[in-house]
Amino acid sequence: MTLIDGKATATTIKAEIKQEVERIVAAGGKRPHLAAILVGHDGGSETYVANKVRACEECGFRSTLLRFEDDITEAELLGQVDRLNADPDIDGFIVQLPLPRHIAEQHVIEAIDYRKDVDGFHPINVGRMAIGLPAFISATPKGILELLRRYHVQTSGAKCVILGRSNIVGKPMSQLMMQKGVDATVTVCHSRSKTLKEECRAADIIIAAIGQPAFVKADMVKPGAVIIDVGTTRVPDATRKSGFRLQGDVDFQAVAPLASQITPVPGGVGPMTICMLMQNTLAAAKHEYYD
Ligand code: GUN
Repeated sequence: MTLIDGKATATTIKAEIKQEVERIVAAGGKRPHLAAILVGHDGGSETYVANKVRACEECGFRSTLLRFEDDITEAELLGQVDRLNADPDIDGFIVQLPLPRHIAEQHVIEAIDYRKDVDGFHPINVGRMAIGLPAFISATPKGILELLRRYHVQTSGAKCVILGRSNIVGKPMSQLMMQKGVDATVTVCHSRSKTLKEECRAADIIIAAIGQPAFVKADMVKPGAVIIDVGTTRVPDATRKSGFRLQGDVDFQAVAPLASQITPVPGGVGPMTICMLMQNTLAAAKHEYYD
């Protein structure tokens, strides 16, 4: 079994990004600048945003964090989005999700200028990605694809089962895995799937993104399969100072001995997600996809 080391891969890619940034700056170009909007005080979101700010420093980017209390109105938040859309100094920005219940996430996502939508959540980016046009691609699926490439996983003709149909991971992942050049045969399973176990048992690649701790058990995995674990649920753990640990969607102890390659949690997909956000921000600063 080979461990797919997302942390080390992300470190390598961030160093590559920083090299390119310093080349751009030395040639008189502008340092990429990522902004993030964080609403409220959700523990997970605080951690994600802090990690994004740190990754910006590692890549030689500028970063701006805009924080708002969770009683901000939708209109006020949309005003802040407009401000970032119009700010020529900001190359790309994200609005950290989830948002408080009184704010319609879709209104906010669609208010973001698609040319600055480094999360790849705007319908224009989602649609362009789906038909194979250059676009910002959601960072988690993009990071998984990069791991599969860098670890030489055979995707062409492989049977890939994706667990979960979210807009951020499951759906875009399914489209990326079937695109030309990746060429997997894709099955998407979700909470209503009747044949989920059987599908998993037949899979060469399983990508688990359902947020159910240790859901994928040994009896669902074909020996030699490649296992990608997107889950990061906080489960109580009295032995940790924080009081919790991160648990993936895969029962790692039981499944790892069967797998040919597997991502750990933490240290697998998570670091790659943030690293791909940095790659998208660099692409935005270079106007790689849009003028
Ligand atoms: N919440 C969970 N994942 C993400 C992400 O990739 N981007 C944003 N903006 N919010 C998230």
